[in-house]
Amino acid sequence: MRSSAALRIDAPPASGGVYYSEALAPLFLHPVVQRLDEARRRELLVLHLHAYLEFTVRLERGPVKEAIDGIDGLDGVPWLDEGVRAAARGIGAEEQEHGAMYERLAREVEEATGVTPIRGVEPELVGRVRALVEGAGPALGPWVRLFFVIVSETLITGDLRRLRRDPRVVPEVRAVVDAHARDEARHHLFFSDLCAALWPRLDPDLRRALGLLLPELIGAYLGLDRAVLGAMLARYPEVFPRPARIVEEVAMLSGPLADRARAAAPSVGAFQRCGVLQDPIVARAFADAGWVRGAAQTWSVG
Ligand SMILES: [Fe+2]
Ligand SMILES: [Fe+2]
Repeated sequence: MRSSAALRIDAPPASGGVYYSEALAPLFLHPVVQRLDEARRRELLVLHLHAYLEFTVRLERGPVKEAIDGIDGLDGVPWLDEGVRAAARGIGAEEQEHGAMYERLAREVEEATGVTPIRGVEPELVGRVRALVEGAGPALGPWVRLFFVIVSETLITGDLRRLRRDPRVVPEVRAVVDAHARDEARHHLFFSDLCAALWPRLDPDLRRALGLLLPELIGAYLGLDRAVLGAMLARYPEVFPRPARIVEEVAMLSGPLADRARAAAPSVGAFQRCGVLQDPIVARAFADAGWVRGAAQTWSVG
């Protein structure tokens, strides 16, 4: 981890920059948000940054940490060698550093802008993953958690790359995101390789059950967080007296299926390389969810 130790943010940013990328901020799909005055738009971008930081911290300290801690305890994988387990523990330690780095950034941004994060709203993803793991039962549950982490660790880099490349985003935020992206690029490779090592050796029944849940895990990661978005809009009751309605309209505007499939492509590509889609029933589930074009015709994942 090579994060910037001393982060100082100008308020307002001397660069005239913003704190988050409009292209990554779902609320900015809505015409009413696009037409807001400059001050409110800037503030909403700060709230989007806060939400992104909170989401990532909760993800990495929650399901990611639990899955990595659980690798040692997985039943039926005595062949997973110690080198892999040690690398997983190293990644777990890095995720803790990412959490600390993001919390520091959130404090700095709050100090610099006076915009407080949305508090007391759990990111929807955390609850959805918990429900999927518990719903899968004691035998399948730990595998669901691990494969959710393979999904999240193969998808996280895409957003980080887009954020660090946006020239309007203030350099302090881009520097932190850049440091995170470097680590996550390595994590992506590790988890893709882990999938490739695990999948062919799993029991066929487990592969089928797990494979059928993967489209839902991808959907959980990529889904809009309606509660958090609604709480952001509720800060402006004079403009958004009915935030839930705007959020629903944002959901309707949020990208045709092809865009969603492109967002999912890093995970889908990793699963294709592991052989997950060789099972036609599983391939059909991916196609039905919109993550691939069809059982036989898949998206290019580059
Ligand atoms: Fe991370
Ligand atoms: Fe990671």
